[in-house]
Amino acid sequence: MMRYSRIIGTGGYLPDDIRTNDFISQTVDTSDSWIFERTGIKSRRIAADHETASSMAEVAARQALEMSECLADEIDLIIVATGTPDLTYPSTACLLQKRLGIKNCAAFDIQAACSGSIFGLSIADQYIKTGAAKKVLIVGTEICSRIVDWTDRTTCILFGDGAGAIVLEASDQAGILSTHIHSDGEFEDLLYCPNLYINTEQHAPYISMRGNEVFKVAVNTLGRIVDETLDANNMDRSEVDWLVPHQANIRIIAATAKKLKMSMDHVVVTLESQGNTSSASVLLAFNEAVRDGRIQRGQVVLLEAFGAGFTWGSALIKF
Ligand code: ACO
Repeated sequence: MMRYSRIIGTGGYLPDDIRTNDFISQTVDTSDSWIFERTGIKSRRIAADHETASSMAEVAARQALEMSECLADEIDLIIVATGTPDLTYPSTACLLQKRLGIKNCAAFDIQAACSGSIFGLSIADQYIKTGAAKKVLIVGTEICSRIVDWTDRTTCILFGDGAGAIVLEASDQAGILSTHIHSDGEFEDLLYCPNLYINTEQHAPYISMRGNEVFKVAVNTLGRIVDETLDANNMDRSEVDWLVPHQANIRIIAATAKKLKMSMDHVVVTLESQGNTSSASVLLAFNEAVRDGRIQRGQVVLLEAFGAGFTWGSALIKF
């Protein structure tokens, strides 16, 4: 019998503090209209001083566990995608494991920037398909506000904080139909964030991006991965019910929707009030659309993301 992984729970967390474009315009030379027209963003959530990637991950994870009616102890693998870990080590996944009181499972972080949660889904799917794990918790969690230079108008307008979570379970029914992940280290200097503890004399530990160039590569690459994903499943684009994209820029999202000949009514967009939450964004958007009833059981959903590395990936899911 074919073994698949199926999504049995989702969760999300957004910090309380709402930072509007107008607020940012008070400190850097920008405006609400420039930001909204170029990106689709109006506001983003900013974590409080006491919050960390693991504290936000805990809230999202508990919600996902509750929906899946699964005890924390049943989880046999925890994967956390983050570019803003609490510590270099222990991993944020180990800190989350402790917070959830789980004793006996493997837990590790992965770093694939904004594509992290798709990479996490892909890894979890392989573990489940091979029988190495039965129930996997995947969390994307980011405090981007701590690695953003709030004096740089080209980046500080883009990012926000939050966490999204999914629980996957082994099942004889699909489930995740396929995942596709890619990396190309060639483009390192278009988008990077120096390590906080190394090379601080040469580079400030903040996100640095050549936005316009990243934009062009992202649009082309995401167009290609749509074809790759549909071809791998012998599926026509008309069979996809929902697109849940990484939330970096509304114009990138619209280009991918156009490629799918999909109306924006079938695209889950959270960008306007959340900004780019990096590895959390796809899981946060998915959680929102599941909880408000847009995404229904049995529907086909295409998840995709693009981020620093470059990294990019997709997951086609029968929910
Ligand atoms: N307010 C006002 N003006 C600004 C701002 C701002 N906040 N930021 C830049 N400008 C100016 C620039 O200085 C430039 O001025 P100039 O023409 O006098 O030189 C002008 O606006 C145009 O700048 P561009 O960078 O060409 O603007 P663009 O239309 O490309 O929009 C943006 C910039 C929004 C960053 C866009 O390029 C983008 O979204 N890029 C992709 C981001 C992305 O997908 N990243 C990947 C995921 S992130 C991750 O992995 C961590």
